[in-house]
Amino acid sequence: MNPKDIAGLIHPTLAVVVVFPIIGMVVNLAWQARQRRLQTADKGKSKIPPVVGPEHRKIGNWLTGSVVGITLVAIAYSIYFKGIFKDFKSENMTLAILIVTIFIATVASLVFLYKAKTKLWRGIFATLTGAGIVVLGFQDGVFRRDYEWAVSHFYYGLIASILMIFSLAIVPEIYKDRTHKWRKIHTILNCLAVLVFLGQGMTGSRDLLEISLSWQQEHLYKCDWQNQVCPDSKSQTLSPEILVASISNYPTLAQTNKVLASGEFVTITPGEDTEGTAEIIQVENKTQVRLAENFYAIEGPAVRLLLHKQNRPGSYTAQNFVRLGDLKSFTGEQIYDIPEGINWQDFPNVVVWCEKFNVTFGSAKLN
Ligand code: HEM
Ligand code: HEM
Repeated sequence: MNPKDIAGLIHPTLAVVVVFPIIGMVVNLAWQARQRRLQTADKGKSKIPPVVGPEHRKIGNWLTGSVVGITLVAIAYSIYFKGIFKDFKSENMTLAILIVTIFIATVASLVFLYKAKTKLWRGIFATLTGAGIVVLGFQDGVFRRDYEWAVSHFYYGLIASILMIFSLAIVPEIYKDRTHKWRKIHTILNCLAVLVFLGQGMTGSRDLLEISLSWQQEHLYKCDWQNQVCPDSKSQTLSPEILVASISNYPTLAQTNKVLASGEFVTITPGEDTEGTAEIIQVENKTQVRLAENFYAIEGPAVRLLLHKQNRPGSYTAQNFVRLGDLKSFTGEQIYDIPEGINWQDFPNVVVWCEKFNVTFGSAKLN
């Protein structure tokens, strides 16, 4: 294991060794606190000791700190190893300073939230802590699984952190409120939190297997993530899909094409090198995109080729791009049909996009 692999394991290790045992204690004490309160209200006494409520609160404090803490550790790891700090360029200095400042401000807000007494300050520091996590989570490098958000470890993580921050912020309200309104809100939201934690255990384990250690990644990234197939060990280089794709391309490649427009690929995300020529060609009555023999893109999972309205895509929405399909090969000549009814001039950029990590590798402006 190299230092990056070890750093990547800090977050799951803390989750398993620290956070989940604390969740167990908090839930156990929560159950007892509730039982005690109901029994006392009903019969005037209970065998459950009165200390369970305050103990639940004390360990609850630890839970909020540890959940926010591991979330920040995970995000810091991703931004450092996969975001702007990877292949750092001096032009990114301002953003880098801003990110570090937001990290420090988020931790400071959480500390102040523990200390704040009035409702107003608790509200302010809870909002600042939550906002800090959200802003940091949306930086480059953080794997958000936007294409499968319903099973995204990232979004579950944000929800869990925000619910814990909210629990911490409303502690005085739970105690003050005689109508038990805040108690009920707290109980309902945190039953949801328990489900989210369950989801974190499952999605986190899945991500560990999918992201893997550095020496495994070269092989894993040859897999087709959407169809869930990998090249077998005997034919290491070509998956069946790529073979079929290249055979079905062959007759088209052999024909003489009329070139309507062309452009050179430029790398958009540092480190995700993309180069070569993209062309719009007319073959009989079909308009197609051709990547020339000199095409090269760095290997990655779930890499797609598309036409986009923007040359440096800021987002991927149904309105601003058209899918041409999975990238058939990371090198060399290949052809893609433009879907019927699409005018390429409305989307004048050919873009290589890693959907899995939402990273734009490169784009070619068509002229
Ligand atoms: C998995 C997370 C959690 C669950 C499932 C949970 C659930 C509960 C439940 C069921 C109660 C008893 C409600 C009643 O009396 O009917 C309770 C009370 C309480 N919870 Fe939580 N809670 C969680 C996390 C937290 C956290 C993170 C904090 C604070 C940082 C917190 C602070 C409190 C407080 C102050 C009470 C009142 C205790 C007392 O009566 O002395 N809880 N919680
Ligand atoms: C309370 C529990 C947890 C919370 C709140 C949480 C939160 C997060 C967040 C917000 C991310 C950021 C996504 C990113 O940086 O790519 C993340 C990443 C990750 N988490 Fe968790 N997590 C929890 C538990 C776990 C567990 C139990 C495991 C595995 C056993 C795990 C494994 C991972 C992995 C492998 C990543 C990806 C890191 C990467 O992008 O390379 N997490 N987690």
